[in-house]
Amino acid sequence: MNTLENPRPRRYSGDLALGLKDQIINQDLDAIRKSIDPSAFQGKGVLVSGGSGFLGSWICDTLIGLDSRIICLDNLSTGVFENIDHLKTVKSFKFERADVCTYSKNPKVDMVFHLASRPAPEDYQKHPVETALASATGTDRMLDLARKNDARVFYASSSEAYGDPEVFPTPESYEGKVDPLGPRSCYEEGKRFGEALCKAYHDQYGLDVRIARLFNSYGPRLRAEGLYGRVISRFILQALRGDDITVFGDGSQTRSFSYVTDTVSASLLFMGLDRSSEMVLNIGMKEENNIRDLAERIKAIAVSDSSVRFLPLPAGDHMRRLPDTARMERLLGWSPSLRLETGLDRTLRWFRSQKP
Ligand SMILES: NC(=O)c1ccc[n+]([C@@H]2O[C@H](COP(=O)([O-])OP(=O)(O)OC[C@H]3O[C@@H](n4cnc5c(N)ncnc54)[C@H](O)[C@@H]3O)[C@@H](O)[C@H]2O)c1
Repeated sequence: MNTLENPRPRRYSGDLALGLKDQIINQDLDAIRKSIDPSAFQGKGVLVSGGSGFLGSWICDTLIGLDSRIICLDNLSTGVFENIDHLKTVKSFKFERADVCTYSKNPKVDMVFHLASRPAPEDYQKHPVETALASATGTDRMLDLARKNDARVFYASSSEAYGDPEVFPTPESYEGKVDPLGPRSCYEEGKRFGEALCKAYHDQYGLDVRIARLFNSYGPRLRAEGLYGRVISRFILQALRGDDITVFGDGSQTRSFSYVTDTVSASLLFMGLDRSSEMVLNIGMKEENNIRDLAERIKAIAVSDSSVRFLPLPAGDHMRRLPDTARMERLLGWSPSLRLETGLDRTLRWFRSQKP
């Protein structure tokens, strides 16, 4: 049995289960660190843009534990300082509140992780210019900084770069089906342009770039509220509060969900490779889950009385997501292992431990 598994569901009491948050996160960080060769990161200067967001803060935490020196750059538009508050007294950690597009410093670094972006559709559709520019101007700024330092770059692209794919499982060689004027184009085309810019810097300057097409990831710290809420955290919070669990469309659309430990392990394994024969990698689970089942599963794990309510499907939503993970398995010699039940249970326990 996986050491992270916890078989006993509990009902949400609204109480603060003190310490549980740190316990879950610390266990997860241990699991990530065990999967990585620390030598690639020890003593390295690393800039993490979007470092106070969900994935960025996990990367900062992991790398601090591997003795890297971190500059966390974030404008706190969708991220929260709370995610990195515990690092503010750590000597090798520095937070800079700044927009990635206008960040003018050129600190000495060995690696750049560029994650700054607004990833939630309801949110980025309200800020389409900022969203497109974080992938265009922001990526240019990060690549230029990396070039000045001869640093290695991790670019957080997305499964959304495939748009509305017609090939499943979707391999990295699939070119995508994207409408440049569609309702999600600021994000989808933004990520695609960011990838193209990474390749241009590689071709013109020999920059070492690693593009990760991340599929849905979830876990502690994934925001649940309002516009920023992503599906798993939103369902969990709705279930814990006894509110209706809101499914868009008939819920037959599918996604592949990867627990944060697997997403971060794969990202760091990719960045830790001395040389990579591949510039781009799908990072995700080869398991397809439909959203209606997900809602029922979360309701059951939370032992919740919530009803599932169906709302109209937003324009531009995609019906299927499933990565071809063969390249990831071959290149990293690794595959994600945490089952959805376990990840949901851990995420749910973490949310339970938060202030209601
Ligand atoms: N979490 C996922 O499932 C997923 C899937 C695919 C791709 N991604 C990509 O991974 C990255 C991280 O996603 P996340 O889930 O952690 O999202 P998040 O919203 O939690 O984190 C993004 C961070 O970027 C910051 N940010 C946004 N615009 C900025 C700007 N212009 N300047 C400086 N900081 C800025 C936000 O404040 C936030 O802290 C994003 O690039 C996202 O597109 C995530």
